[in-house]
Amino acid sequence: MRRRAIVVVMADTAPALFDRLADRYDQVIPFFAAFAGQLLDVLGPDPGTRLLDIGSGRGAIAAAAAARGCAVTAVDAAPRMVSLLAAAHPEIDVRLMDAHRLDLPGACYDLATGGFVIHLVAEPLRVLAGLRRVLRPGASVALTVPGPCEDNGRWNAWETLAGQFASRAGRPPRRDYRVAAYLRAAGFADIRTVNLAVHLPVASPQTCWDFHMSHGFAAGVEALDPADAAEFQRLALAELTRMHESGGIVLDRGAVAYLAAVPANDPHRTQHAQPTAGT
Ligand SMILES: C[S@@+](CC[C@H](N)C(=O)[O-])C[C@H]1O[C@@H](n2cnc3c(N)ncnc32)[C@H](O)[C@@H]1O
Repeated sequence: MRRRAIVVVMADTAPALFDRLADRYDQVIPFFAAFAGQLLDVLGPDPGTRLLDIGSGRGAIAAAAAARGCAVTAVDAAPRMVSLLAAAHPEIDVRLMDAHRLDLPGACYDLATGGFVIHLVAEPLRVLAGLRRVLRPGASVALTVPGPCEDNGRWNAWETLAGQFASRAGRPPRRDYRVAAYLRAAGFADIRTVNLAVHLPVASPQTCWDFHMSHGFAAGVEALDPADAAEFQRLALAELTRMHESGGIVLDRGAVAYLAAVPANDPHRTQHAQPTAGT
């Protein structure tokens, strides 16, 4: 099983990319919402859990957590993501904020989540150190990144095609999956992983293409020169059509959730604060 390139973006351009994608992000197929539901099933937060979601996007995790009764703060560095999420979910405290510089009080959250974001940021250790600061002793963190998925070879030809064109792009995408090492370095304990997977039927080849162009995959296409991008789209749609006509397209994708905890006797944490609006 291979790790699928769900998101292929340069860390420093991530918020700008997602700002442009925000209107269609997770709207073609509720893909990230599906992973968020699975993550919350694993975490099982109690109603009233004070949850901070970083890189919240359209609110896959944040909205689902709020629906489960959590008191959610959601931060994202893309202004359009923030305005769409705030408009759709007034029950969530949504902030425009860089995860590297959390302007939030210390030791006031019970749980921090980040769906498909930690591998994109420029300085993962800095982000995790910030999360540890705002989490209370004994609190948990859960971060997902793209991961392996069993697909019985259904996506082999697509992967080969995408790999061929990716090698033509000017700059190779930066992806940093050393999440466990960063968690350890930031002082988190009880680090473990859980594999997640979705197998979502897709109605048509065009829908599947539109899905791919609605998230970080679009950055890889945009990194091609226009002729290569057009050629890739043509060949990708041909492969999706082949899949559609030979049993139907099923979006098989995996993720790894990294779970960890702030040590209960954290010497850095002596006081508990409450998150307040506007702080
Ligand atoms: C792949 S999307 C994931 C969105 C959401 N967590 C989900 O699961 O659907 C990554 C999100 O992280 C945000 N992001 C990237 N770098 C960030 C940073 N340094 N600080 C805050 N948000 C960031 C992007 O704007 C984007 O909304």
